[in-house]
Amino acid sequence: MRRPVIAGNWKMYKNPGEAAGFLHDLATLVTESTHAEIVVCPPFIDVPAAVDAARDSNIEIGAQDLFWLKEGAYTGEVSAPMLVAAGCRWVIVGHSERRHYFGETDESVFKKAAAALEAGLTPIVCVGERLEEREAGLTENVLATQCAGGICGLTPEQFARVVIAYEPVWAIGTGRTATPEMAGQAHHFLREQIRSRFGNEHADACRILYGGSVKPDNVKSLMAQPDLDGALVGGASLDPASFAAIVNF
Ligand code: 13P
Repeated sequence: MRRPVIAGNWKMYKNPGEAAGFLHDLATLVTESTHAEIVVCPPFIDVPAAVDAARDSNIEIGAQDLFWLKEGAYTGEVSAPMLVAAGCRWVIVGHSERRHYFGETDESVFKKAAAALEAGLTPIVCVGERLEEREAGLTENVLATQCAGGICGLTPEQFARVVIAYEPVWAIGTGRTATPEMAGQAHHFLREQIRSRFGNEHADACRILYGGSVKPDNVKSLMAQPDLDGALVGGASLDPASFAAIVNF
């Protein structure tokens, strides 16, 4: 039985004060929600305020990125041990916006995932095809390549703590959600990739989240797919009521 994860990715929205207010409000709406792990990933600068506001709740805090080295002369970067020290338990790795705007590659995704695991963070490793790739019939090739470069180099022990997020790029922030069947097919394909690399036990235990225009009114039909184990939510995670409605799908 895979316990769902509902994670919010705030991207570059909200300041520390807004983050604290949001977490106090969300905490009161999800006190009874024990069926899922609830994660909020604010911008780095909000992490201390978010950790503080979520302290006595069932909400955990994650970051949206990290650098793979522990410390050094890397202006602007934040390391996995720093995130742990600040109270993060999770970190998003390889989001398509990082791949697209900031030059993230499968190789950097691999290094970041390994660094997160070494520090004790749970990485949410993102994969997903662009619209032109889907239209060219290349979805499975893209997913296979991203898996091979980004996670298949981990050891089975490392992989056991990885969460994967399938986020078709064309569905992010567009209001154009993948149909439950399309998402289900991609998740099934990803689980088979994991099976062939890491074996049945790891494949059956791995949580694969869906991301891309998840809203309170479509989450239930997406989660009805057998290979969908939660959601990575962007826009709809910015409002406590809509995020709570998604958590309580
Ligand atoms: P939206 O839910 O706004 O489409 O964003 C999805 C996403 O990128 C989550 O990481």
